[in-house]
Amino acid sequence: MLKTFLEVAVEVAQEAGAILREEVERPATISHKTEFDLVTQADRRSEALIVSRLQKYFPQHAVAAEEGTGKDTNSEYRWHVDPLDGTTNFAHKYPCFCVSMALARKNELLLGVIYNPIHNELFVAARGEGVTFNGKKIQCSKIDALKNSLLCTGFPNHNRQANPNFHFYWDFTLRSHGVRRDGSAALDLAYVALGRFDSFWEFGLNPWDTAAGVVIVEEAGGIVTDMQGQPYLLGGPSILASNGLIHGEMIQVAAEVSAHILL
Ligand code: IPD
Ligand code: CA
Ligand code: CA
Repeated sequence: MLKTFLEVAVEVAQEAGAILREEVERPATISHKTEFDLVTQADRRSEALIVSRLQKYFPQHAVAAEEGTGKDTNSEYRWHVDPLDGTTNFAHKYPCFCVSMALARKNELLLGVIYNPIHNELFVAARGEGVTFNGKKIQCSKIDALKNSLLCTGFPNHNRQANPNFHFYWDFTLRSHGVRRDGSAALDLAYVALGRFDSFWEFGLNPWDTAAGVVIVEEAGGIVTDMQGQPYLLGGPSILASNGLIHGEMIQVAAEVSAHILL
């Protein structure tokens, strides 16, 4: 059954990705959810496709999709869908965005699929069965010291003033090879699984941003917690994902930064 779920997720993510590839060639149709939170025709078309396909294949399943067209049911299965992660990049034709889909049973994430349609990068993970990148098994990096690491983070579009991340960004930049800010949390997590980044953190993400990436990182041998090192809960206030080897150092630095902010 898990295989069937996975096959559908891969098929639908690629179909939605084709919509994004087509839409990015057109003049952008941007509207604003808030001053800096954008939504485009591509977000809506991609979500419409995904939700209708999931409803066709699994009519009982609940679907939580970012643009709000999913549906709640009392099924124990729930899809977490980001039809376009990286909308700001998309709107500026910066080629770093993806489709992200995950399936949870009760509170357990069963599978995650992330598809970058521009570079044709497909990440597929099933709980307990590992993760593939374009069909090949992948593992997180083996970098074991923060000072040798390449990191990634993100800054949400909502509540910008209240976000503490600039403090963390500053500190981690000084203690690593650098911190990238790519603008797609789902792809950022997938790149931790691929070993391009050794760790990723962010505050204020939603379940649809992280659900697929969490399974993908964990199945690549990485660790996902919150910034204090406590278990990560979908939609929780912070996420910290890493190759596992630098996780302790990341938490220690985060604690130092937090203490400093509170002074
Ligand atoms: C955003 C991206 C971005 C992150 C924001 C998210 P969206 O998702 O993942 O990298 O920093 O917090 O909201 O709005 O493009 O789906
Ligand atoms: Ca997102
Ligand atoms: Ca989105």
